[in-house]
Amino acid sequence: MTRHKVVMINGSPRKKRTQLLLLGLKDLLEKEDFQVEILNLSDYEIKTCRGCEVCITKGSCVIKDDMEVLKEKMINSDGLVLATPVYMRHVSGSLKNFIDRTCSWFHRPELTGKVLLPVATTAGSALKQTLAFLGEVAYQWGMVSVQGIGRNVSNLHVNLKKKEYMAFVEIIRRESLYHKPSLEALMSYQVQRVLAEKLLTIDGDFWREKGWDKQIYYYSCRIGLIKRLIASLLYAILMKRIRSVENDGDAHEGKRR
Ligand SMILES: Cc1cc2nc3c(=O)[nH]c(=O)nc-3n(C[C@H](O)[C@H](O)[C@H](O)COP(=O)(O)O)c2cc1C
Repeated sequence: MTRHKVVMINGSPRKKRTQLLLLGLKDLLEKEDFQVEILNLSDYEIKTCRGCEVCITKGSCVIKDDMEVLKEKMINSDGLVLATPVYMRHVSGSLKNFIDRTCSWFHRPELTGKVLLPVATTAGSALKQTLAFLGEVAYQWGMVSVQGIGRNVSNLHVNLKKKEYMAFVEIIRRESLYHKPSLEALMSYQVQRVLAEKLLTIDGDFWREKGWDKQIYYYSCRIGLIKRLIASLLYAILMKRIRSVENDGDAHEGKRR
């Protein structure tokens, strides 16, 4: 059997506290027979997003740098650890820019069915909200997120407990396809589904090819009746309220006005 692959992204410009936490986690995941690679964003050339939206409207980014290599590694993984130091009560600028550079994945998700484990370190504040943001990125990428791991300077060296990472391990082992999505993940899916239908031809084609336009989530899984009803209602409301845009070039602009 091939070993499950986990990619860890370290969004710190330096290799210190967040890296230390990741190294500890890497050891533990390797003991669970996972193959783990740490990618320090500081080792790669990642230029700033220019905001042109060409990746969204035309399919590929105009900037040529290491982003494609990193995206490929993420696509080929079974699980992802997304790690950051807390900067001004949020993720680091390097990590935010990296996330911005993947924004076409909100339209045409490439990481569906994979699991994300958020990790953050801080001098003391804003751990909860930073981890929560990383969890939201998982939905934007079409992934499922487990509860994050956070450390501050006073407990950085406290050993990681099994309960902090085993949900991640277990979902990956079950190939994650049977993992039940949260209500937030389901709702994010409905927004993406409607936008794919109403906004850009390139998105609509992609979603139809995957068969997602007819589904309530990326893959079939057990979803409770209440969640299913809320998701279906949201889909119906959005379909009614968001108007179609014909012209691809102006589509994004048109939607926002
Ligand atoms: C630019 C900058 C902003 C920071 N903002 C915060 C903050 O808002 N709250 C906090 O508690 N720590 C803050 N810190 C401290 C870092 O979150 C903390 O030292 C972190 O563990 C560093 O991780 P690293 O060693 O992997 O870079 C900040 C540090 C820097 C350099």
